[in-house]
Amino acid sequence: MSGWQAMATLEAEHVAGRGTLARLEQAARDLQAGRLADALPVFKDSLAFFAGELEQHFKHEESALFPALARVIGRAGPIDAMLAEHESLWRSVDLFSLSVEELEDGGPAVDAKIVREAARNANHIAFLLRGHIEREDTMLFPLAEQSLREQQKREVDRDIEVLDRGRVPRSRFQVQS
Ligand SMILES: [Fe+2]
Ligand SMILES: [Fe+2]
Repeated sequence: MSGWQAMATLEAEHVAGRGTLARLEQAARDLQAGRLADALPVFKDSLAFFAGELEQHFKHEESALFPALARVIGRAGPIDAMLAEHESLWRSVDLFSLSVEELEDGGPAVDAKIVREAARNANHIAFLLRGHIEREDTMLFPLAEQSLREQQKREVDRDIEVLDRGRVPRSRFQVQS
């Protein structure tokens, strides 16, 4: 434990993310074994997690941690890579969301192709997000721990608090049109 509040928050969010991914993968196996009724509620819970907790976690990173770290190490390199991974994760979530709609529309006798596609999309999210979390836990977060001074860490803490109150922190990246 570092004693850095923001880092403890971000790491706890990663633990929650891993838990969701484990349930998502189990649901993908259930689906492929013909247990649509077991899989569907878990799929919907996962989508709610992505749209809620995960989106807020990405905000914590994109609008608090990453800008602070970018001021020290620059934005090119690891931070740009992590931002690109966030984008590609959202594209996968969109595809998965369409799959879930198709599963719901198909009813109990849903087409085998839709089942395969939904399981593939679920597993792809698990693959992407687990790898992403791993890279942050082992590379980016330790880099932030080492590179930021105490005062900069306190600013990240404050920006996360501001975000959690639904506001836009000062240190957010400039939005490019
Ligand atoms: Fe991230
Ligand atoms: Fe993260």
